[in-house]
Amino acid sequence: MTKNPNTIVIIDNGSQTAHLIGRRLHQLGIQTQYTDPHEALKTIKETQAKGIILSGGPSSVYEEGAPTVAKELFELNIPMLGICYGWQLMSYLLGGKVELSDAEYGQETLQIAKPEAILASLPQKMHIIMSHGDTVTKLPPDFVILGSTKRVRFAAVRHTSKPLFGIQFHPEAFHTENGMTVLQNFVETICGLQLNPLPIEPKEIIQQIKEQVGDKKVICAVSGGVDSTVAAFLIGKAIGKNLIPVYVDSGLMRPGTTEIVKYIFSKLIKADLIVANERSRFLHALKGVTDPEIKRKTIGKLYIDIFKEIAKKHTNVAFLGQGTIYSDVIESKGSKGASLIKSHHNVGGLPKDLGLDLVEPLRSYYKDQVREIGRLAGLPEDIVMQQPFPGPGYAVRIRGEVTEERLEQVQKADKIVIDEMKKAGLYEQMFQCFAVMTGAYSTAVKGDARAFAEVVAIRAYTSSDVMTSQPADLPFEVLKSLISRIVNEVPKVSRVVLDVTPKPPATMEWE
Ligand code: XMP
Repeated sequence: MTKNPNTIVIIDNGSQTAHLIGRRLHQLGIQTQYTDPHEALKTIKETQAKGIILSGGPSSVYEEGAPTVAKELFELNIPMLGICYGWQLMSYLLGGKVELSDAEYGQETLQIAKPEAILASLPQKMHIIMSHGDTVTKLPPDFVILGSTKRVRFAAVRHTSKPLFGIQFHPEAFHTENGMTVLQNFVETICGLQLNPLPIEPKEIIQQIKEQVGDKKVICAVSGGVDSTVAAFLIGKAIGKNLIPVYVDSGLMRPGTTEIVKYIFSKLIKADLIVANERSRFLHALKGVTDPEIKRKTIGKLYIDIFKEIAKKHTNVAFLGQGTIYSDVIESKGSKGASLIKSHHNVGGLPKDLGLDLVEPLRSYYKDQVREIGRLAGLPEDIVMQQPFPGPGYAVRIRGEVTEERLEQVQKADKIVIDEMKKAGLYEQMFQCFAVMTGAYSTAVKGDARAFAEVVAIRAYTSSDVMTSQPADLPFEVLKSLISRIVNEVPKVSRVVLDVTPKPPATMEWE
């Protein structure tokens, strides 16, 4: 754990939105460090934290095994903000009372009694997001009210002499008005940290790449997806011909990807794109492979082998360019008790033994910021707004063995799904929508003859953080039209079903 004089420690009490707190602070250019409650004291000392946030969580302070912290924390004289459960815990440990109340989930109005400290420069009334069962019903000694809602008297509070603050609402939630100001007040005014927002301006990022790379060459694996395209695009703008973009065409990508990649690199940045047509090698390697994890590993290894073969042919290359983004960095660190759900493969997994230094211009940015940077840099809208596509491509959307025939079918069906969603103006509202070859077979009547053919599933959902998803609300007319097109235009499909299972439990991809 590195010491950083600008760190805010976030004590994670298990809230679904704990990661959003870090995200908001990251936007302000503030370094954060997450910690388990029982390790909080150690983490705070090791990082020399300038502020502490006690996150929300699903527990009740009276539950056995509920997250708790050492009382010593409140005596460190380090500013602390308790959010939701975090505030209840602070109150409970300092002698207040917490009780089960009428649960509140959703938007409420906060009436600000004292526009000071964390609520400085806020309007008298604002909409906030509440999500709690318990609430504080008696303040601990020396706390005063800053704001209340109709049902929650102690919705925002402060200690009269110590730097302790509590709020029952969620400032990190997108739909809390002025939530960013509440957090900014805490880190800037109360913790005394200097804000250092990241540049979204491509010019500055391009300048940083120039300074890092100088006159050396950069080899860059591109997939046609948003992250690797924006990264390579910025690198290309910075170093021109010294960029060597490599696209390994596995044959498993969306139809038209090769053409899009060629267009971007030959027309928009004029770099000499290397296209490796390796479809048959991938299909050969996948022959007989039905296990999802073995599939992912087979594809990942082959990508690396091919990339290494290409890299070896080039001399004077000093850097490897990658489209790693901030969520990749966070997710790959994982958390202590997390189990492996899927071994995600992406270009971030390229081997260290290439002997190249990394250029990762997007490493500090989230997806929506990456899209904005790409847009400002001049990439076309349909490229920056593309939905994410898994590294192993359609292989994980074909349940069971990948064959030429099934690959062709899923590509056709998927294109219909995307075309129809775009036509209905729904594509950009969804996180992902796609077709899956289910591996199930059923009877159909096609052209007066019996057909016993494969069932295709449609998956369309919204998600803000990839960890959870909800099925998208699809008008029946749109569904009817796309289903009719799939059964008519894709041979050997007997029927189409709609998969409306949320995540959890169902992961977004079938494999
Ligand atoms: P799951 O299926 O894990 O998917 O809920 C979450 C997101 O990750 C994408 N995904 C992958 N991306 N390599 C990738 O690069 C993979 O192996 C992989 N598996 C899933 C998926 O499309 C969704 O956006």
